[in-house]
Amino acid sequence: MSQVVTTEVKEVEIKDLPLLASIPGVEKGWGIASLTKEFLTPSSIFGVAKVDGAAVGYAVLQLAKEEGYLCNIVVHPSFRGLGLGKALLEWMIEEGVKRGMMRLILEVRESNTVAQGLYLSMGFKEIGRRPRMYSDGETAVVMELRTANF
Ligand SMILES: CC(C)(COP(=O)(O)OP(=O)(O)OC[C@H]1O[C@@H](n2cnc3c(N)ncnc32)[C@H](O)[C@@H]1OP(=O)(O)O)[C@@H](O)C(=O)NCCC(=O)NCCS
Repeated sequence: MSQVVTTEVKEVEIKDLPLLASIPGVEKGWGIASLTKEFLTPSSIFGVAKVDGAAVGYAVLQLAKEEGYLCNIVVHPSFRGLGLGKALLEWMIEEGVKRGMMRLILEVRESNTVAQGLYLSMGFKEIGRRPRMYSDGETAVVMELRTANF
């Protein structure tokens, strides 16, 4: 008999932060201190993806008037490819639009074709590149989503 698995995306709670900080393979600088700072920042939108009540992914967006900037989106490696990244991003966009967001900008490593695939599938378009944006010298692809139709 197959088990029923419940997934949900919602606003993060402080009790979720330690589990989110323990997700492996995340870009440097996303430890408990920065997650707590984002949690406490009123202009940040912070969503969590849960599987059977356990936090397995998150996304953080900073909103400045009508412009949103996606700071990070992460799904635990054991739960990738199940649609959680897309569900998180959809939730973030809906929350941003409720708060007046008209466009959402993000940067992604040139080599990160999985994340680029996610963004392209959601309607993001490349608007430029920033050479040597990352500390290891990698170029960032800058992408934008106009959110008028959400
Ligand atoms: C990017 C990330 C959040 C995607 O999360 P996910 O839950 O695995 O993504 P989903 O299952 O929702 O897939 C959404 C889309 O991403 C793309 N995608 C996901 N896995 C992929 C893979 N292995 N190969 C290619 N494309 C892939 C596809 O376009 C997919 O859409 P589809 O299922 O309709 O084809 C996840 O891979 C991750 O946490 N990566 C490490 C952190 C990171 O790179 N974050 C981005 C920072 S800019």
